[in-house]
Amino acid sequence: MAGCLAGKVALVTGASRGIGRAIAKQLASDGALVAVHYGQSKTAADDTLAAIKAAGGDGFLVQGDVGEMTGIANIFRELDAALAARGIERFDILVNNAGVGVVGDVGTTSEADFDKAFAVNVKGLLFVTQQAVPRLRDGGRIINISSMVSHNAYPAFIAYAASKAAVDSITLSLAAGLGSRKITVNAVAPGATATDFIGELDDQFMGAIKSATALGEIGKAGDIASVVAFLASPAGGWVTGERIRASGGMHL
Ligand SMILES: NC(=O)c1ccc[n+]([C@@H]2O[C@H](COP(=O)([O-])OP(=O)(O)OC[C@H]3O[C@@H](n4cnc5c(N)ncnc54)[C@H](OP(=O)(O)O)[C@@H]3O)[C@@H](O)[C@H]2O)c1
Repeated sequence: MAGCLAGKVALVTGASRGIGRAIAKQLASDGALVAVHYGQSKTAADDTLAAIKAAGGDGFLVQGDVGEMTGIANIFRELDAALAARGIERFDILVNNAGVGVVGDVGTTSEADFDKAFAVNVKGLLFVTQQAVPRLRDGGRIINISSMVSHNAYPAFIAYAASKAAVDSITLSLAAGLGSRKITVNAVAPGATATDFIGELDDQFMGAIKSATALGEIGKAGDIASVVAFLASPAGGWVTGERIRASGGMHL
């Protein structure tokens, strides 16, 4: 498919649903061959891939739980096999999007919820990246999906917010460490975005978010995908080590 990412290969984690699905579709429509990663939602991942192909793009599925080292190993086993079948050795763009939210303040957060947030959002992101780095071409891109909550106080999501602050920290270290290979590393920090992720929050909470947002709305997955696509594109090549808010102006 023609576009600014023609000839590039991208891996998008958590592309079965929500923001990851929108990112996978956007990168494919910009010309990239997209590895559509999923954890549990095979049918939804099939739908993402079907949408990519219906729009004239190309991709394939890879599966694995990013919270488990065996799951991460499986992702890269499947990626290596799919790329080898196409005569491709390396890839260009990693989008670390897979993530989970856990709800709880300092009094109610359980050890299990804390461990889940950090296993998926931090350990998963770091060790997916560890596997990706030797497989990325020089000049590649890593884009980590952070959150507004990493820089703003959200006492009701204390462990989740801390996990996303860790994502920001990892982003900085990666950007410094991979600059010599001309690999850029950035974080995109969405505000509240309409996906399954926030589906269970009540109307009062949603109203409070809207009134704290300059543009007065909840974001759409495509709004986040556009920012990721810019960072993945040649036009984004001079941006590294940044955390870019994509929130419609939350908490200005
Ligand atoms: N929506 C928001 O308001 C918002 C705001 C700020 C930041 N974010 C961040 O944006 C990212 C995407 O969120 P979303 O709103 O699109 O959420 P979502 O609709 O719930 O989708 C989450 C995705 O992550 C995958 N995933 C979750 N746990 C996984 C695991 N252990 N192993 C493999 N894949 C896993 C899911 O795959 P399967 O279903 O296939 O398992 C799914 O594709 C997350 O990092 C989230 O923290 C979201």
